[in-house]
Amino acid sequence: MQIYRTNNYTDMSRKAANIISAQILMKPNCVLGLATGSSPIGTYEQLITKYKQGDLDFSRVKTVNLDEYKGLCPTNEQSYQYFMNHHLFDHVNIDPSATNFPDGMASNDDDECTRYNQVIQSLGGIDLQLLGIGHNGHIGFNEPSDSFEPFTHLVSLTESTIKANSRLFNSYDEVPTHAYTMGIQNIMLADKILLIASGKDKAAIMKQAFFGPITPTVPASILQLHKNVTIVADQDALSEIALV
Ligand code: F6R
Repeated sequence: MQIYRTNNYTDMSRKAANIISAQILMKPNCVLGLATGSSPIGTYEQLITKYKQGDLDFSRVKTVNLDEYKGLCPTNEQSYQYFMNHHLFDHVNIDPSATNFPDGMASNDDDECTRYNQVIQSLGGIDLQLLGIGHNGHIGFNEPSDSFEPFTHLVSLTESTIKANSRLFNSYDEVPTHAYTMGIQNIMLADKILLIASGKDKAAIMKQAFFGPITPTVPASILQLHKNVTIVADQDALSEIALV
């Protein structure tokens, strides 16, 4: 596990974007696993800048996003597909048909989960998976549980996650209670993992996840077993971890 400590969110975003850029330069037709939330917004901004400077080409890149709210369609501003279009895809030369999401409007949950697992498989797996981390240790929307859920599944979001996400909605009641999310095995099968974290509010969970026991009650702790994990986090998020 490689840990980079950065001064702040901007530095974290620049370093994370550099790592993703290196992936795209080394393998122009790579498969990127992508996340939403506050953590990656700066990283996506940096990737857009690099694209506009002529340093990056997304034309052969394929993407799979970690999750999507159940009940939201892509044109809903709160959907994760809308988020990705708004924060990255609309600003670079990626082929929209090469970007993949669980379908929040699917009528049959099991069929949708099977379809999404097949999408990931048919792309040949993920070269680089970008992750944020929830305050309760969730990755994607793999919430704390008594076992690790391996593949794409429908989750009941925990109260703490709904509360955290309500900042992006008009009210708590508008936050969807369920989401489709890629499972832990889907994530662990990625060649490389890049986890980003920023802010004091992530300090306790960062310590628990990466220096505590591996347990499904802290889903991110499973990443300790992955062969190629890079953490890029600011000093606030790493403030409970003493690095040499
Ligand atoms: C969203 C996702 C979530 C977030 C996590 C942290 O696609 O994968 O696991 O990464 O909830 O969210 P932020 O970055 O908003 O703190």
